[in-house]
Amino acid sequence: MVNFWSQLSKPILVLAPLAGVTDSAFRQICKSYGAQVVVSEMASVAALVHDQRKTLEMLAFQPIERPYIVQLFGSDPQQFAVAAQIITEKIQPDGLDINFGCPVPKIIKQGAGAALGADLSRAREVVRAVLDNTDRPLSIKLRAFNQGISAQQFVANLADLPIAAVAVHGRSLAAGFSGFVDPTAIAACRSYVNGQLLANGGIIDLFSAQAMLAASQADGLMIGQGALSRPWIFQEIAQQVNINLSWSELSQLMLRHAKLVVENKGQAGLMELRKFLAWYVKGWPQAKKIRQQLVAIKSIADLETIISNFCV
Ligand SMILES: Cc1cc2nc3c(=O)[nH]c(=O)nc-3n(C[C@H](O)[C@H](O)[C@H](O)COP(=O)(O)O)c2cc1C
Repeated sequence: MVNFWSQLSKPILVLAPLAGVTDSAFRQICKSYGAQVVVSEMASVAALVHDQRKTLEMLAFQPIERPYIVQLFGSDPQQFAVAAQIITEKIQPDGLDINFGCPVPKIIKQGAGAALGADLSRAREVVRAVLDNTDRPLSIKLRAFNQGISAQQFVANLADLPIAAVAVHGRSLAAGFSGFVDPTAIAACRSYVNGQLLANGGIIDLFSAQAMLAASQADGLMIGQGALSRPWIFQEIAQQVNINLSWSELSQLMLRHAKLVVENKGQAGLMELRKFLAWYVKGWPQAKKIRQQLVAIKSIADLETIISNFCV
């Protein structure tokens, strides 16, 4: 299988995995603005082994999303092995990714996410298990500091294995999703990463993207929360311009997103769309008033009415 990671232009721009957010519709939106690689919401290896249907449904994607990566979380190497086979055969993504950094208590309690990231020998077993059971390139995602283990120590422990990309979230486990981001902890991984090094954390616009690239020496950027209200951030970075959408452009984006969600999930998907609509209008005049209406939409027609009644 071709290692697509090595063929991408730099800086490589990746949409981060975000549970409850990076579904097929949002991934397609980000792709249209220049995200080169998109990653699924994290998928449980235990669920894949025991009862696959819902997880496989969640992981479905459209060809336009390629290269598309499926991210796995769990703690048991054997389950990772089986899950890697299932995903390779049934989803056929372009790559697989392993989550070593999730701080959510219910994930940590299972020995997964950051708990797995703090157990160097088990983490290595898990990487081996996935590599041995897929022909797709493997990437990993981890924290800069995790319960006394630095990202540098973590990647040094895996330096002899063929890992195609390493995404380092520059925050410590304790910093959660909004604390201090340390680009030097990402740069410290450079000499142990044979594949692509991706910097993640706190990239919200062109300025922060350029600062992160310079300080981290990374081959690319992985962007999460910065894409929520501004998925065009990928285009800003690729073209090195600041972009402000007009109301008409933003309206078209909201309608396009709504149509994609309905295509993928039916009318029920509009409930999930509401949070995106609220993010999109952040910073607009009368945002509070329009947000109240957007979070109550029941149909695309409701959205069209709200948009046409809004005078900027
Ligand atoms: C709502 C939400 C869901 C997330 N879900 C995942 C996930 O499924 N897998 C993962 O590796 N990281 C997940 N993360 C972490 C992000 O991928 C990313 O590492 C983090 O948000 C830092 O990047 P940012 O500052 O660009 O958002 C999640 C973060 C948030 C806020």
